[in-house]
Amino acid sequence: MKTNGTLDEWIQNVGKLAQGNSRLVLAISAAFATLLLKPCKRENFGIHFVGGSSEGKTTALYVAASVFGSRQYLKPWRSTDNGLELVAAAHSDMLLVLDEIGQMDSRKLGDTVYMLANGSGKIRSTASCEMRRVATWHIGTLSTGEVDLETHMAEANKKMMAGQAIRLLSIPAKPALENSGLLEKLHGFNSYNELAQYLKEATEKYFGAPMKAFVEALIVEGKQIDNLFRVALEESQAKHLPVNAIGQDFRVFGIFFTIGFAGEFATKRGITGWPAGESLETAVAEFTRWLQRKGGAGNQEEKKQLELLRCFFQKHQHSKFLSINEYDDVTDSKIVNESIGYKKETSMGTIFYAYPERFREAIKREIPANVDDLLKMAADLNILERKDKNHLTKIVRFKTKVTRMLVFNSRVLADDDFLEEPPK
Ligand SMILES: Nc1ncnc2c1ncn2[C@@H]1O[C@H](COP(=O)(O)OP(=O)(O)OP(=O)(O)O)[C@@H](O)[C@H]1O
Ligand SMILES: [Mg+2]
Repeated sequence: MKTNGTLDEWIQNVGKLAQGNSRLVLAISAAFATLLLKPCKRENFGIHFVGGSSEGKTTALYVAASVFGSRQYLKPWRSTDNGLELVAAAHSDMLLVLDEIGQMDSRKLGDTVYMLANGSGKIRSTASCEMRRVATWHIGTLSTGEVDLETHMAEANKKMMAGQAIRLLSIPAKPALENSGLLEKLHGFNSYNELAQYLKEATEKYFGAPMKAFVEALIVEGKQIDNLFRVALEESQAKHLPVNAIGQDFRVFGIFFTIGFAGEFATKRGITGWPAGESLETAVAEFTRWLQRKGGAGNQEEKKQLELLRCFFQKHQHSKFLSINEYDDVTDSKIVNESIGYKKETSMGTIFYAYPERFREAIKREIPANVDDLLKMAADLNILERKDKNHLTKIVRFKTKVTRMLVFNSRVLADDDFLEEPPK
């Protein structure tokens, strides 16, 4: 790959200016991280800077790209999925830099994100019906756009899956709301415009040397890198991941950690121009912000569904459940039309008994959820009391009848943070 200028020139004119500019530190470190994917057995990753026009997104891409090549290294999202497959294969073990997600066909975006992250192209057959070799790649993608993945996919009425969101992680281009754009530290320049302009010109003159130096350092490190990485990852997970972290939290932490680790590896070998510690601190801080935007550790979909279930009970507790006393006598003065079941005040709070079919119908009308999944979740969280693992209902012996019902305990109304607990 063609390089221009020395490593020292790149550090003086690009790397040093990234110091204190968290997005640039992240972008350059992400570029280095792509060289670690294969030796450290890490999955492909994607980072997407989202922000309004003229916030410095493309400038950050130039800076990241300069680890590998000139400004021509940038590729547009505006391409067919087949075209991007070729581009991805050609960038294996390197950074893929894609500008302007808005130009990608929104109908194809979701599948393309999966394709880039999963690291292999489509299976095709040759004219003689033999299977062609499938292209494969290890890449990290750095992307920009004025919209995030979810918004762009929604234009084609497509719903973003959680799996897609973690394969192309959206990060606001502006590190803080009050900033005018992506750059935070002026390094003696008079304006962000001047600094951005300088970086654009510098990355046209100095590029490629950091990648070369990083690869040389990796060769010196040899096979130990894998072990070094794993030990550091485990330590960092123990320090920074909340106890209720679930699979996707671990994966996203792993991505940010790989980026931070790559930055530290480069810094220690004099390849970046910013102090030791800054890469990892920046990456971990970004993970923490990602977690906050998601609403904390744990399964957000589950939290949302259970929140809806709680609202359902709050709304209908007086209108669709008949009050019964300890002798199971109905104590409501008026008989409730279309009642779903009964409620009983106990020392443990209100218990709700719902007729399964009536409950299912009512829920279906009001909550966009799979009722079985919702009930299983409630059971896993010990909100729905069940007979055993194979049943969601319980046999209830009322004074005048014995019947199978869905029994919700008082936690279904709880305003406390039971939804924060990890499922048992
Ligand atoms: N804090 C800031 N950081 C970076 N750029 C800024 C900042 N404040 C203002 N700018 C302006 O934004 C310009 C960055 O241009 P760049 O092409 O990188 O933006 P962009 O976010 O890619 O825009 P677009 O979405 O239109 O492509 C700079 O030339 C500068 O004038
Ligand atoms: Mg741009």
